[in-house]
Amino acid sequence: MDEVADDVSVGKQAQFSQRMTEILNGGALTLAMALGYKHRIFDVMEGFDAPATPGKIAEAAGLSVRYVQEWLGIMATGRIVVISTHTPGEALYHLPREHAALLTRSAGNANLGVYAQEIPLLTSCAMEAVSSGFVTGDGVPFSRYPDFQAFMGEISDARHRQILVDQFIPCVDDGRLLERLKKGIRVCDLGCGEGVAMNLLAEAFPNSRFLGIDNHDAAIDKARNDAEKTGLVNAEYCVADAATLKDDPRFDNRFDYVMAFDAIHDQTRPHEALGSVVSMLAKGGLFSMIDIDAATDQAANMDHPLAPFMYTVSLMHCMPVGLNNKGAGLGMMWGREKAVAMLEQAGFDRVEVLSMDHDPYHLHFLCRT
Ligand SMILES: C[S@@+](CC[C@H](N)C(=O)[O-])C[C@H]1O[C@@H](n2cnc3c(N)ncnc32)[C@H](O)[C@@H]1O
Repeated sequence: MDEVADDVSVGKQAQFSQRMTEILNGGALTLAMALGYKHRIFDVMEGFDAPATPGKIAEAAGLSVRYVQEWLGIMATGRIVVISTHTPGEALYHLPREHAALLTRSAGNANLGVYAQEIPLLTSCAMEAVSSGFVTGDGVPFSRYPDFQAFMGEISDARHRQILVDQFIPCVDDGRLLERLKKGIRVCDLGCGEGVAMNLLAEAFPNSRFLGIDNHDAAIDKARNDAEKTGLVNAEYCVADAATLKDDPRFDNRFDYVMAFDAIHDQTRPHEALGSVVSMLAKGGLFSMIDIDAATDQAANMDHPLAPFMYTVSLMHCMPVGLNNKGAGLGMMWGREKAVAMLEQAGFDRVEVLSMDHDPYHLHFLCRT
């Protein structure tokens, strides 16, 4: 009996050893892919029509051959690029088209390469602060993440540029929002970051007026500058804390449509922020909250394909940022059940939870008062 138990235990250990090997390789690959993405090596390789030497790839990317050669070793053994040898000792590399379609800047909404940067970026910003948080329970100030808004802007651009106007908006409220936007309504993007989504909408719907709100000055400056560069006369921006808007009469009943893309779960006072949205909406107004598709109950996320990644992003950024000033610290994986409960508590009478064909990782909470 004990021998059988020992065999089972050895088998399980061997299985977990295999899993650990995958984990170590996966973590290493994420880091290396982040560097390759940053230096546009995938984009460069996508442009080649035949396998190339490290020298040719490095030259086209404007990078050091020795670094690129080492990086290619990681990419080849990690099965990201394909290695072949024509002359002994001289390897050639190419990026298969099917991989490029998920890794390069031209991949648009399918671009997963951009996300490879996320854990390395958050780690370089906040490893020590998050580590301290394990002991103290304190949050981590947003100022510890100086590169976050630019990165978020990059993600937003990959996510929204091909999708927002042509696919997302026409689906909202069975096409009625599209018609209203064409005629002209008042729209607020709450937690707009660098304004990527809002500027796209303002350009597409010149009869509507848009106000982007965020509590981060630098992000608002960038959003405003981009709007000016594009010549948008219907896009304005202001710095404000979403939690305080419900106490400001200037915002009462002011909007026909409010949207918040990934902008509620990071907030220190999300209950108050949702209360603000309720008071900001005019009669018949709509609120689109786009947030992560996950279950609130951790045990129900066992089959979520990106759960460890998303919980880690949350641990390294969303949760500690939301814990500041004794904040709620919901974290990115707060889940649909908690989200619906909070939306209803805030005063929304109807909350529809909709999945989106173009984005399997987010849910659209379409809310009415
Ligand atoms: C994850 S980012 C999303 C940005 C943008 N919506 C997008 O999709 O690119 C969350 C945004 O919420 C903003 N934010 C966090 N707390 C806020 C608050 N209390 N009031 C207003 N904005 C807030 C952050 O500054 C950040 O720009």
